[in-house]
Amino acid sequence: MRTMLLIGAIALFLVSCGQKPKETEMDRYINNLMAEMTLQEKIGQMNLITPGGGIPTGAAVSSDVEAKIKAGKVGGVFGVSGPEKVRQAQDLAVKESRLGIPLLFGSDVIHGYKTTFPIPLGLSCSWDMELIEKTARIAAVEATADGIFWNFSPMVDIARDPRWGRIAEGAGEDPYLGSEIAKAMVIGYQGDDLTAPNTMMATVKHFALYGASEAGRDYHTTDMSRLRMFNEYLPPYKAAIDAEVGCVMSSFNDVDGIPASGNKWLLTDLLRNQWGFDGFVVSDYTSVNEMIDHGLGDLQTVSALALKAGLDMDMVGEGFLTTLEKSLEEGKVSEADINTACRRILEAKYKLGLFDDPYRYIDENRAKTEILSLAHRELARQAAAQSFVLLKNEKQVLPLKKAGTIALVGPLADSKNNMLGTWAPTGDPQLSVPVLEGMQNVAGTDVKLLYAKGANISDDPEFARKVNVFGPRIEIDERSPEDMLKEAVVIAQKADVVVAVIGEATEMSGESSSRSDITIPEPQKKLLRALAKTGKPLVLVLMSGRPLALEEENQLADAILLTWHPGVEAGNAIADVLFGAYNPSGKLTATFPRNVGQIPIYYNHKNTGRPNPGDEFQKFRSNYLDVPNSPLYPFGYGLSYTRFEYKDLTVSKETITLDESLEVTVDVTNTGNYDGAEVVQLYVRDVVGSVSRPLKELKAFQKVFIPKGETKRVSFKLSVADLSFYRNDLSFGAEPGQFMVFVGSNSDTEDFEEFTLK
Ligand code: BGC
Repeated sequence: MRTMLLIGAIALFLVSCGQKPKETEMDRYINNLMAEMTLQEKIGQMNLITPGGGIPTGAAVSSDVEAKIKAGKVGGVFGVSGPEKVRQAQDLAVKESRLGIPLLFGSDVIHGYKTTFPIPLGLSCSWDMELIEKTARIAAVEATADGIFWNFSPMVDIARDPRWGRIAEGAGEDPYLGSEIAKAMVIGYQGDDLTAPNTMMATVKHFALYGASEAGRDYHTTDMSRLRMFNEYLPPYKAAIDAEVGCVMSSFNDVDGIPASGNKWLLTDLLRNQWGFDGFVVSDYTSVNEMIDHGLGDLQTVSALALKAGLDMDMVGEGFLTTLEKSLEEGKVSEADINTACRRILEAKYKLGLFDDPYRYIDENRAKTEILSLAHRELARQAAAQSFVLLKNEKQVLPLKKAGTIALVGPLADSKNNMLGTWAPTGDPQLSVPVLEGMQNVAGTDVKLLYAKGANISDDPEFARKVNVFGPRIEIDERSPEDMLKEAVVIAQKADVVVAVIGEATEMSGESSSRSDITIPEPQKKLLRALAKTGKPLVLVLMSGRPLALEEENQLADAILLTWHPGVEAGNAIADVLFGAYNPSGKLTATFPRNVGQIPIYYNHKNTGRPNPGDEFQKFRSNYLDVPNSPLYPFGYGLSYTRFEYKDLTVSKETITLDESLEVTVDVTNTGNYDGAEVVQLYVRDVVGSVSRPLKELKAFQKVFIPKGETKRVSFKLSVADLSFYRNDLSFGAEPGQFMVFVGSNSDTEDFEEFTLK
């Protein structure tokens, strides 16, 4: 809406100055073009295909690609990259189709293009918006050099269920943090000029609620109240729209019974009419066709439903291409419906500058010099270090001394194939730095480094087969598990400290990688038990694409560094942190449950009428017989090599009115022995409302660097907007009454002050 009003105001201003408004030029250009177009060519623009060069994520890939492009039956292509191939495909459209309309070239550039950054869930744990924006910027610089200028990212689906493998692709469970990250990524990709040859159009996905699939099973049913939608799940999509994202991707799931790709309430009433989105909507991979299986009708019916709902481009399924003409003849869709969708896609092409120069995003020279440049790799190393979360550090095992003997053990310690993480189809695993190599690079000559694999990620060949669809992620050793374990124990006994690198293979999370058991596979647990038995200090470097249930590991290891899947510079970044060159500062963005039965578990839950805030079981209170309510590690949690003390939390006023704001301040002192960064988190509880409100909601945070021995005064401004929420009638606003404001180092903080809103 803001954008539309702004554009309207600028247009009026320009008209009053007697100049041609820019928007009118675009309209005129597209009007002229559309006047030339046949119905088939218009429908062709609404067709997105993949020749299957990338990773096809559904059963189908497109056929007769070349002929279709020449015939004007294609609006965009994905799964093609590199200057030469993109140029060839663009030539087919520009030089050999009747009207020469350039193609869009898209891709899933999810966490870096060739310079692979940590998986998005890891990156979110940096809580560093500038860093996240930079990683998106670099992804755009590299992708555009290679001909790709339309990104199927950011993925902003709120996820509260770590069984769902795609939790790896988003920013975790919190709507406020998720919104900040959505904005940072859109700005990073799109920059402030979409026509610039090194910016790309972003796509916010998956609209909407995809992360709430039941039981954490991918593509499963989604059903929730409007209140939960608006307060908890929709804000990050809205934040991307407010940041002027160019494209929205509809999700696979249903929303209130109607699949998102055919949901008019979602794609038109909410997205366009309420939120003012003026870009185009693309379906997910064959999600239009999949409405047949959802039970909404045959291909013609669901394609018409999608168009009528406000979906503009059909990914791979070709329901639009093959049925819309018939639907038009039968009066099931109108020519205006088709014109609207076609126009939106042409507008995107215009805004990207393609009509001026269809080849503006192909740059062989930039591709050679900028992709995987030293500076980009250096940022990947920093980003990885910043995404790590120190979950435990007893007896100050970490940081490691650069002396003595270190036993490096585990199936992920020397595994290039598992460093990049899920959804890194443009990255090259062979260019990644495994942990062993990183340790060798950083340890220095006084360290003796011993290595043993110790265990397979999993011993189950059937499980390995399912995980290895994109290449060997789980490699089952020829040696017996017993021999491998023995070797590891022998080197552990010779060492001063043991570092075990274990966890999930990259493809154990991501799309279609749900798990009903989120523990570490048994062979690795065995290894850890055996290592613990040696009595040597034991550091667990944990790789994973999701929160895991780690109760046993939490007891066995002296220190746990959670590194997610860190990207191309994995090993170097891990060594930097283990040896103390970087003091870990990451904080969890998704709760770690004690066991799978606690799921869904998230910090911003409500109180219930029978709360049990403690961990002791109480009959007739809301709790379990066999596990406490509390998680193993809460949202926002993460340790440092140093300690931070919070003091003197104050609010500037006891009472504020609706048009006032409140200042909240706290002193944070670094009382430990290392310089370090702390993410200071502010949570609010609205004590009484017209609907039940969460016990705590993140409303602000600041990442501050504090040298050892120093104190920083951190202050936040809270406005009434921060206290507002959607009520039962879906009106939005703050309600007078008492509020508690908590500030601390994680969502478990008990330290609060109170104020009243009048
Ligand atoms: C995924 C999307 C992705 C698309 C194209 C789908 O299976 O859900 O996130 O953008 O494939 O690769």
